[in-house]
Amino acid sequence: MERIKQNTKNLESEINERLFTDVELKENLKKFELFFRDCLTSDSPLLNKVLKYVFDRKGKRMRPICVFLAAAATQRPLVEATFIGAAAIEMIHTASLIHDDVVDSSDMRRGNKSVNAEWSSQIAVLTGDYLLAKALRLVTKHGLFDFTSIMAKPICEMSEGEMLQIEQSRTQNTDEQTYLSIIRKKTAAIVGTSMEIGAKSTGGEHIAKLMYDIGENIGMAFQIKDDVFDYQKTNLLGKPTGNDIIERKMTLPLIHALRQAKPDERKSVLKHVAEAATNTENVSKVRDFVVKNHGTESAMSVAATYVDKAIELISTLDDSPAKLMLTELSRYVTSRRK
Ligand code: IPE
Ligand code: IPE
Ligand code: MG
Ligand code: MG
Repeated sequence: MERIKQNTKNLESEINERLFTDVELKENLKKFELFFRDCLTSDSPLLNKVLKYVFDRKGKRMRPICVFLAAAATQRPLVEATFIGAAAIEMIHTASLIHDDVVDSSDMRRGNKSVNAEWSSQIAVLTGDYLLAKALRLVTKHGLFDFTSIMAKPICEMSEGEMLQIEQSRTQNTDEQTYLSIIRKKTAAIVGTSMEIGAKSTGGEHIAKLMYDIGENIGMAFQIKDDVFDYQKTNLLGKPTGNDIIERKMTLPLIHALRQAKPDERKSVLKHVAEAATNTENVSKVRDFVVKNHGTESAMSVAATYVDKAIELISTLDDSPAKLMLTELSRYVTSRRK
């Protein structure tokens, strides 16, 4: 547990080392933390306790970073709307994680107990709901009505993606295309939206669509890498590994490894996956099969195509420090160690 905590502490420092060399971004993120904390208050003492717990265990803040970099890429000064957008996006992301841990029966997040494990699923559902509503209230309160509708889209898509994933875990015949449409909805949409909001916040309408596409590609690569991490033996991310197998989720490493398998082997691997929840030894059997058949490397080569696409789109932007950082961020999502 101590090691996991230590690793999670380092989550922030890795992204820090690689992106926060820019003084302005560093300052904006400091400002963001104060603003975000002040947004997280309610009339319920219990809710405040949960919100404080969540805020004190912060993640990488990748989505706010996306908002700031996209805003900076417009080469216009960052404004209040940039910070409001970043806070609302991080609230939506946080809500999705709190709900996700209920959906995935996961007891750990960011190296600590998940909200459902520390309190209960009821409290996790309500806290997530609160954060989603709070995000929409925040942007509406400031008259940023176009942000409201832009943000509503990934919120819907996250649920659609999760639903499709649940349906697929029952049938166990997920192909690559279906997997990609799941992660586009559950992960890439909000990263795309972060970039779009960033660009729009400073009035950079002309690059908002381009920014969405850059973020979407970054988000796709990010989720594939996250799914590859699930096949590691050691927990470096501050959340359990092997959970996708237990939850019967067919992610890209498994889909690719199964392409090499003969019908009998496929049947037996899928049986191991189906019974992994009750027989934990199956997790290492499936992991060994995936590693032996180069499923993780093969999945990473797909992730690399999304990084390349993002970098190609970024190259069309006018030169700026933000442009360089966006390229660095694109590389970071697949090369990150945790
Ligand atoms: C986790 O996202 C959910 C996925 C899309 C894989 P992050 O890894 O960005 O979560 P935090 O905010 O840093 O904890
Ligand atoms: C990502 O799903 C969470 C959302 C996008 C809602 P996962 O279930 O794959 O993410 P982790 O691994 O628990 O963070
Ligand atoms: Mg999930
Ligand atoms: Mg999960």
